Amino acid sequence: MRTSGGGGFGGLQVACVVGALCLLLPTASRAQLQVGFYNTSCPNAEALVRQVVTAAFANNSGVAPGLIRLHFHDCFVRGCDASVLLSVNPAGGKTERESPANDPSLRGFDVIDAAKAAVERSCPRTVSCADVLAFAARDSVTLTGNLFYDVPAGRRDGRVSNETEANDNLLGPDSTAEILIDGFGKKNLSIEDMVVLSGSHTIGRSHCFSFLSTNRQRLANGTISPAYQALLEALCPPNPGQFTPNTTEIDVSTPTVLDNNYYKLLPLNLGLHFSDDQLIRNGTLAPFASAFAANETLWKDKFAAAMIKMGNIEVKTGTTDEIRLNCSVVNPSSSSSTAGVIEMLFPAADEVVTS
Ligand code: HEM
Ligand SMILES: *[C@@H]1O[C@H](CO)[C@@H](O)[C@H](O)[C@H]1NC(C)=O
Ligand SMILES: *[C@@H]1O[C@H](CO)[C@@H](O)[C@H](O)[C@H]1NC(C)=O
Ligand SMILES: *[C@@H]1O[C@H](CO)[C@@H](O)[C@H](O)[C@H]1NC(C)=O
Ligand SMILES: *[C@@H]1O[C@H](CO)[C@@H](O)[C@H](O)[C@H]1NC(C)=O
Ligand SMILES: *[C@@H]1O[C@H](CO)[C@@H](O)[C@H](O)[C@H]1NC(C)=O
Ligand SMILES: *[C@@H]1O[C@H](CO)[C@@H](O)[C@H](O)[C@H]1NC(C)=O
Ligand SMILES: *[C@@H]1O[C@H](CO)[C@@H](O)[C@H](O)[C@H]1NC(C)=O
Ligand SMILES: *[C@@H]1O[C@H](CO)[C@@H](O)[C@H](O)[C@H]1NC(C)=O
Ligand SMILES: *[C@@H]1O[C@H](CO)[C@@H](O)[C@H](O)[C@H]1NC(C)=O
Repeated sequence: MRTSGGGGFGGLQVACVVGALCLLLPTASRAQLQVGFYNTSCPNAEALVRQVVTAAFANNSGVAPGLIRLHFHDCFVRGCDASVLLSVNPAGGKTERESPANDPSLRGFDVIDAAKAAVERSCPRTVSCADVLAFAARDSVTLTGNLFYDVPAGRRDGRVSNETEANDNLLGPDSTAEILIDGFGKKNLSIEDMVVLSGSHTIGRSHCFSFLSTNRQRLANGTISPAYQALLEALCPPNPGQFTPNTTEIDVSTPTVLDNNYYKLLPLNLGLHFSDDQLIRNGTLAPFASAFAANETLWKDKFAAAMIKMGNIEVKTGTTDEIRLNCSVVNPSSSSSTAGVIEMLFPAADEVVTS
């Protein structure tokens, strides 16, 4: 299955006059990502990322859900700018990565580092970490769901990562329908987008601290299967406050396949998180969930489109910020300002219109 991304015209219009002196006409407000952004500057970029993700997935299939969630958690905090990958906050203070929403559950950092290293060897200082992550998430969708979509690219990497912003923008598993709708609305994602993207929970795992507490309420209210709850409680320590690395698969039926079974489990009271269960308890959300349970093609089409939409949240383009060299740390500030000047004078090959 293939869904087109709709690249559109480039955000950075570059006119070249004779003598290779280029005049930049920055169009920051109209800046857009483009499918095939690295066509000329790094034609192997997407293939290299795919190779690394495919190899890592062959070793550990948990890599795929890990990378999809990593992209989501990147995009929801300061836009898709790879801020989630930073392990040091240049401004001081804790990073997004250290937020309880991310630590210790987020995974896939090592795969991104390996993919970025492969791309840097082939085309130094050209492909952003944010784009590597967007490609890797798409490849994860392809590997688990046999679903391909073109990823518009051209994202730049940010230089800020702030734990508080992660706490404020990432939604907890105890979120009500209202909070879910509101949290996605703040990112210009629709109610339908929220229900569609929650279907990512058709793959991957969850930790005891993510599902236990609100599920005890659900048991009392009859919205979780008692047998399922008993199974979950047996996995976890009796005291829900106690940390355990134990996890369970979110979709008990087909935990490694990106399919629509997630939506089919919800009416059986087999949704894992309170937030998953909300999709069938609220009358505005329920019709979407039941349509996706009934028609997998419908869900997959909408999923690919919604991933592209999510990948566009507050993106930085053109010559703002930087192309990070090491995805875990921002570039040294002197080299970054120099790099900015160099790029103004010598824009990347794919931004140059030659005649
Ligand atoms: C609607 C609001 C959402 C909430 C409240 C939510 C919450 C969660 C929670 C609590 C976990 C388990 C984390 C753990 O303990 O390991 C999880 C896992 C996951 N989430 Fe979400 N999520 C939401 C939306 C999304 C979206 C939009 C995506 C992707 C587009 C996504 C992708 C995933 C994936 C793939 C996993 C499995 C991660 C792994 O196996 O490492 N989620 N989510
Ligand atoms: C890159 O090449 C593909 C395939 O030819 C094309 O569809 C796409 O529009 C190109 N993108 C850019 C930015 O040149
Ligand atoms: C394979 O996956 C395991 C986790 O399941 C990880 O510890 C190990 O580093 C991975 N090996 C390679 C070569 O990626
Ligand atoms: C992080 O963000 C919060 C909320 O916007 C802000 O109050 C705080 O000063 C920021 N921290 C740093 C180190 O920039
Ligand atoms: C669903 O939840 C939203 C947000 O709380 C609320 O506005 C709406 O009325 C609810 N819809 C139904 C039919 O319960
Ligand atoms: C949502 O759209 C509005 C209007 O186009 C825009 O001003 C705002 O920055 C967007 N917010 C996000 C998070 O993309
Ligand atoms: C369970 O039902 C009670 C009322 O019986 C309500 O106050 C509470 O919010 C419900 N909890 C959940 C998790 O829905
Ligand atoms: C984690 O699960 C294992 C079985 O898989 C169990 O023996 C152990 O008690 C669990 N850990 C905790 C803290 O309950
Ligand atoms: C399922 O959805 C697809 C894509 O929207 C549509 O073409 C198809 O007709 C739907 N199938 C059924 C049985 O409704
Ligand atoms: C990237 O930065 C991290 C954090 O400083 C460091 O541990 C790692 O070795 C660096 N990786 C490379 C390839 O330089």
